[in-house]
This record gives sequence, structure tokens and C-alpha cells, in this order.
Amino acid sequence: MFHPIGNKIIHLDEVDSTNNYAAKLVFDGKSVPGTVILADHQTAGRGQRSAVWTSNAGENMLLSIIFEHDNLAVADQFKLSQFVAVSLVQFLRKIGIKAAIKWPNDILVEKRKIAGVLIENQLSGSFVKSSIVGIGLNVNQLKFTDLQATSIRNEKGEFTSIQEVLYQLIASFNESAQSTQRGSQLEDLYLSNLFGFEVEQRFLDEEGEFTGIIKGVEMDGRLVVLKNGTQKKYDLKEISLLLV
Ligand code: BTN
Repeated sequence: MFHPIGNKIIHLDEVDSTNNYAAKLVFDGKSVPGTVILADHQTAGRGQRSAVWTSNAGENMLLSIIFEHDNLAVADQFKLSQFVAVSLVQFLRKIGIKAAIKWPNDILVEKRKIAGVLIENQLSGSFVKSSIVGIGLNVNQLKFTDLQATSIRNEKGEFTSIQEVLYQLIASFNESAQSTQRGSQLEDLYLSNLFGFEVEQRFLDEEGEFTGIIKGVEMDGRLVVLKNGTQKKYDLKEISLLLV
């Protein structure tokens, strides 16, 4: 399922969005699987749910990785999300930061977001042909307009080289790809690092705020939440976990 990641690295000073740059490479048939596109600054960084992703120039890691799949069914696409989130958490643990996954693939440290992931898939029939995995990881930025954000520097109290982070992160991705191929259970790793798993949390769905418990995640990525004694399954746009 996975090609080695980071054999080719394209480093840009400035780009609209590394995901857009990667999408163009794929569209033009010029992509090499596992290519990493890194930018010091994005003029139109994009986040999930059509949000804007902002970052101080030169302070954070902004990258996209191109994945090409031999046999990934659309129904199994959440596996890639799990793989990315687990790899990020494992990387942060390795550098001494205790991080957790906020469904589906935000990365938190003590309820503060340290990284966000935007995955864009190119489909062919019922298969995912390729995916662009965009990652924004806060490295040296100290102040955020969103108070519920943090960075490696905030957590460790020291400047960290983005180049160093890049190489360590690529190593973590490749290690986790190898252990996945050897049969390690991504689902279990994902759930054991999932913020709020089996613990009462406040949520917001179309009916309003409620207290519920995350019971799991379906193969298609839907979140399973126990609400008023009934298990309900939610798509991304249908529920928010409230970090109160
Ligand atoms: C989110 O949490 O909303 C996802 C944020 C993803 C941001 C990264 S930064 C690199 C890549 N290029 C983009 O335009 N977005 C992703």
C-alpha cells in the first residue's frame, strides 16, 4: 500500500498551497509516489471544512505528501487517515511531546492543536488512485490567534529546526508504514491514541450540545458516539467535539 516517503523533496519558498502544488503534479502526470512538497510560506493554505490555514512565514512545517495506491478501495480510505494521525503522534512522542488524535485527524497536546491534516483523494471508480496528504505542524510559532493551538517550541521551550523535524517525521512515516505492512493494527493504535475514547465528552450535533462517549470509528471513518443510551454514527460535518 505504501511507497517510501521522502525520496524526493521539493522545497519551495512560497506557494499558494502545497496541496495545490502536489495536485498539479499528479494532474500533469509528473508525480513520483512518496514525494514531499515543503513550503516556507503559503499564501492560500487550506484546512478542513473549507477553513483557511494560516501560519507565520518560516516558522512552521507546511508540507504535502503524494501517495499512490495500488489497491485502496474508497470504502477503506480512512486507513490512510489513521496511518497519518498515528505516524504524527508517534513522531511527537519520540521528541518528548505527549500528543493525542482528535477525530478524525487533528493532533492535540492537552486540548491544544499542534497539527492539522488535510487529505485530498483522486478516485477512479471505487478505488482511490492517489492521495495528497497535507500536514501543517506548528514548530516554532509562539503566539496563535486561536488560543487553542500550540507548537513544538511552546511545548519544549526551545527552538527546533524545521529541517530536523522534517527528517524525523519522514522516518516516523516510513517506520509506521513498515510496521503496518508487518501487520500491526492501525485501528488499535488509532483508538489507543484517540482523544476522548471511552470517556464522557461534550459534543455538538444538529440537535445541539450533549454529553456523549466515543465508542469507536467505523471503517469508513464515521465516529461512533453513545448519545442518550444509543450509538450514533457521524460524518465529519455532522458533529463537533467541544474542547471545554
Ligand atoms: C486542518 O486542520 O484544518 C488541516 C490543515 C492542513 C494544513 C496543511 S499546511 C500544508 C498543506 N497545504 C494546505 O493548503 N493545507 C495543508
